[in-house]
Amino acid sequence: MRQPTVVISGTGLYQPPHIITNAELVEAFNAYADLQNAHHATAIAAGERAPMTHSSVEFIEKASGIKQRYVIEKDGVLDPTRMYPRFRQRPDGELSVMAEIAVDAARKALAAAGKTPADVDAVYCASANMQRAYPAMAVEIQQALGAGGYGFDMNVACSSATFAIEQAVNAVRAGSANCVLVVNPEITSAHLEWRDRDCHFIFGDVCTAVVIENADTATATEQWEIVGTKLATQFSNNIRNNFGFMNRAEDSDPLARDKTFMQEGRKVFKEVVPMAAAHIEAHLATFKYQPADVRRFWLHQANLGMNQFIIKKLVGADLSGTVGADLAPLILDEYANTASAGSIIAFHAHKADLKAGDLGVICSFGAGYSVGSVIVKKLTLP
Ligand SMILES: CC(C)(COP(=O)(O)OP(=O)(O)OC[C@H]1O[C@@H](n2cnc3c(N)ncnc32)[C@H](O)[C@@H]1OP(=O)(O)O)[C@@H](O)C(=O)NCCC(=O)NCCS
Repeated sequence: MRQPTVVISGTGLYQPPHIITNAELVEAFNAYADLQNAHHATAIAAGERAPMTHSSVEFIEKASGIKQRYVIEKDGVLDPTRMYPRFRQRPDGELSVMAEIAVDAARKALAAAGKTPADVDAVYCASANMQRAYPAMAVEIQQALGAGGYGFDMNVACSSATFAIEQAVNAVRAGSANCVLVVNPEITSAHLEWRDRDCHFIFGDVCTAVVIENADTATATEQWEIVGTKLATQFSNNIRNNFGFMNRAEDSDPLARDKTFMQEGRKVFKEVVPMAAAHIEAHLATFKYQPADVRRFWLHQANLGMNQFIIKKLVGADLSGTVGADLAPLILDEYANTASAGSIIAFHAHKADLKAGDLGVICSFGAGYSVGSVIVKKLTLP
């Protein structure tokens, strides 16, 4: 039997209503640090405790390339007596926040693909954090959309989207689904430690959605053939969050530092850059492609410097110039790191100008460690 051609026929983006600029973020953090230092003045004076030091806009922009981030709730994050978002606990009968933003992005992706929820056979909710243990977020999203088939959740941290795309491709190739909706709701603001200077600037909230279907039924005016997918993992503790259902049984503090995002940023940078570059090169080689054959790389959006290094390793180009930016567009200056959604936002926002036949690579990398690449080719449509 002929293997079906599988395409991405639509993408969608939910963008939260609030922006936090670096200046606002730093002002709140510094006010928090001053309050903490005043509160612990005696211990600090006695040398029993180190004072907290201020954050700075210059450091954030130079070290990461991030200039602002979108969040669903802003006031709690910027309240120096709180420093995390404030969400109303919704009753069980009401649509959850995570499902709400997923439904918004999903509807936009379905509209772009020219599909209705009735065409969807499966919903994969792939994200770095799920709002609850069960029922699966994907099943709630499936019901809210009015889609058929089945849904399930999956988590491979920042690589959740690319890993889900491979599962969708496999389902369509195997014939168990004809049209799969992949959604990546990332409410990173709720698991970021806004009180830690080393990482308080890293994340932003967003949701992306991708429609993956059999090319035989695709009707969208723009379609991307999925040439191939390749996933890899290698265990590392350098990005870790210990929040989980065992916390209570372990009698551990649910508010302790290790129950939110933690990382060894320098180590991650050094170890993941070569891993991602080698992964992309090896994946392209299986189809006899060279990195120079690729018209655009939609890379994970964690750090400007990381992406510059990866592109330099692959094609020798400098991403700080216009050619580099065109080759691997950045969205992290506006969105910050949005975990699994980053490379998909880049693809969503920077694909329309490519020509039929152009080759591209979507690539994620992050906790696990995990790396996922998706080679796509813009289809020539009649
Ligand atoms: C997080 C990251 C931006 C930090 O940049 P960095 O250059 O490694 O910075 P470091 O953490 O080594 O800190 C450098 C110095 O700046 C200081 N610093 C840290 N945060 C600061 C802040 N907000 N404001 C001012 N100074 C700060 C540090 O204390 C350190 O000071 P020291 O040299 O006196 O010890 C960077 O490591 C990174 O992006 N890594 C990859 C992360 C990643 O991809 N994570 C997500 C998973 S996909």
